[in-house]
Amino acid sequence: MSAPVRHSAAGSSALPSLAAARERSTPIVMLTAYDYPTARIAQAAGVDVVLVGDSAANVVLGYPSTRDIGVDELLVLTRAARRAVDAIPLVGDLPFGSYEPSDEMAVATARRFVDEGGCDAVKLEGAGPMLSRVRAIVAAGIPVIGHVGLLPQSVVTPDGYRAQGRDAGQALGIIGDGVALEAAGCAALIVEAVPEAVAAILTARVSIPVIGIGAGAGTSGQVLVFHDLLGLGEGHVAKFVERYAEGRQALEEGARRWADDVRAGRFPREEHTYAIAPEALAEVNQRLGRE
Ligand code: KIV
Repeated sequence: MSAPVRHSAAGSSALPSLAAARERSTPIVMLTAYDYPTARIAQAAGVDVVLVGDSAANVVLGYPSTRDIGVDELLVLTRAARRAVDAIPLVGDLPFGSYEPSDEMAVATARRFVDEGGCDAVKLEGAGPMLSRVRAIVAAGIPVIGHVGLLPQSVVTPDGYRAQGRDAGQALGIIGDGVALEAAGCAALIVEAVPEAVAAILTARVSIPVIGIGAGAGTSGQVLVFHDLLGLGEGHVAKFVERYAEGRQALEEGARRWADDVRAGRFPREEHTYAIAPEALAEVNQRLGRE
């Protein structure tokens, strides 16, 4: 496995494969992954970039909010994904509370994701005061992906997960935030849960790749959460998710068949067991005083 790529440039040259895809108008495919097998699957499936998202809080660790996952927890998952991903960029999500308070904290956390997690870039949510955090992290030589529109780390109640930018003021705010994040040095943007027309305007107004989730087809690419895409989660999924497999059902069915086979004496069979030479077994029995 090759070592993570170290980037020093800001802006679109910092993640060259994504910048080139936007240049060619080839849609960028980003998928989240959170451990060795999911990251291995993502890379084998041919995605362009893996994001170890803080959505791990919900889909892997069972927390109610992405705000609940800490740096140390996400770094364990990031390192596992890094061991799996050797041919495409790996992006680490900076957890809630790990970068907002100061530029120094933002740089220190981003550095941990590069040095300890092996990330090629980090992602953070928001603009405004976060522009300074982006500038500081980029100045430290670490590529940054910005995130605008719905910002899950800012959601504090379940009804907060709703589309953004549906009135002119909010739409202009999201577009302005994206433009400002590019100027601050972001290498790419995620835009989440905004009308297609708004995401398309944002994409046209910046020259870096814009990767959408619930933002229609007018962006430079798409990202989805692994467990949503492949049906590993339970309960409600957002309107913008399409299930491409029923993974949970398939896995549950496999586990149930195995449990049934164990209980019915159908597993294990001879092919699953190890043999011992008759004379060795005879000696064991003899030394234990068995017939
Ligand atoms: O954490 C995450 O998975 C994300 C994606 C949904 C973009 O931020």
